[in-house]
Amino acid sequence: MRSRPRRNRKSALVRAWTAESSGLSAARLVYPLFVHEHSADVPVGSMPGCARLSAEGLLREVDGALEDGIGAVCLFPALDEDQKTPRGEEASNPEGLIPRSVSALKARWPELVVVTDVALDPYSSDGHDGIVSAGRILNDETVAVLVEQALCQARAGADVIAPSDMMDGRVGAIRDALDGEGFEEVSILSYTAKYASSFYGPFRDALDSAPKAGDKKTYQMDPRNVREAVREARLDEEEGADLLMVKPAGPYLDVLRALRESTELPLAAYQVSGEYAMLKAASQAGWLEEKSAVLESLQAIRRAGADVILTYYARQAARWMA
Ligand code: PBG
Repeated sequence: MRSRPRRNRKSALVRAWTAESSGLSAARLVYPLFVHEHSADVPVGSMPGCARLSAEGLLREVDGALEDGIGAVCLFPALDEDQKTPRGEEASNPEGLIPRSVSALKARWPELVVVTDVALDPYSSDGHDGIVSAGRILNDETVAVLVEQALCQARAGADVIAPSDMMDGRVGAIRDALDGEGFEEVSILSYTAKYASSFYGPFRDALDSAPKAGDKKTYQMDPRNVREAVREARLDEEEGADLLMVKPAGPYLDVLRALRESTELPLAAYQVSGEYAMLKAASQAGWLEEKSAVLESLQAIRRAGADVILTYYARQAARWMA
């Protein structure tokens, strides 16, 4: 045997020479957080370690995250049912939960990168990302509303606007509206290839945001497809997106790889609630060694092509890597 691949694995330093993907670091992680209007933090049953945070809880959690080396958070609102409406008006209320949370964070930590989610589902009495009419999700009417939501977030100080709704044309419309108000520096992180996935279940528990009727298959992508993701990426790029996201992450590494090869834009991947729940549950049962399994899952996402990873494990992973 003249070729022995094991020679390149014989010591830690030789493995470091030959490591093909490196740079999994806390700086690449974004920490998604749930906020609500109540004065206590309420744990999310299907996501042990995660909670719907009060205003005070949010500041405490972000303080801890910064100490752990995490510099970016992404906010999701859990609204009471009586604040939800068919058109999700609360999404662009300047005094709403998200604008207030963003301002509070930016006032305390100007350097913190605050990412906000654009979509109607947390605000919609139908539990859909867009406006529903006779069982259909209206595209262009929804885009007009999402533009208002994005502007509201930018005015509150959001650094990065992340549309997760999967309506056609929303990136371009949001870009134009942001530029029109002088927010040229606000970035757009587009959920480019967001699949109609079963792995969002625990997130929908956290926000009580499951669709009241139907599913999201007429706007989120079909899990059988990957060429379609490349097409979505091209459109988002033409419309002015700064970063493109694949979601979920672990089950869609081939999609990340395909996008890595087809665009020069930086890529993000979202290790979603169901991926977190699986890792957490198996670890709590003693069936997986949590630290190594989680770091491996993140390393795999990085290897496939992600520059930025959204993960509920952000704080723990940062501590493990330190
Ligand atoms: C909806 C949205 C979802 C997630 C982020 N934004 C759920 C959905 O599309 O139903 C899921 C995130 C997760 O599961 O962690 N706009």
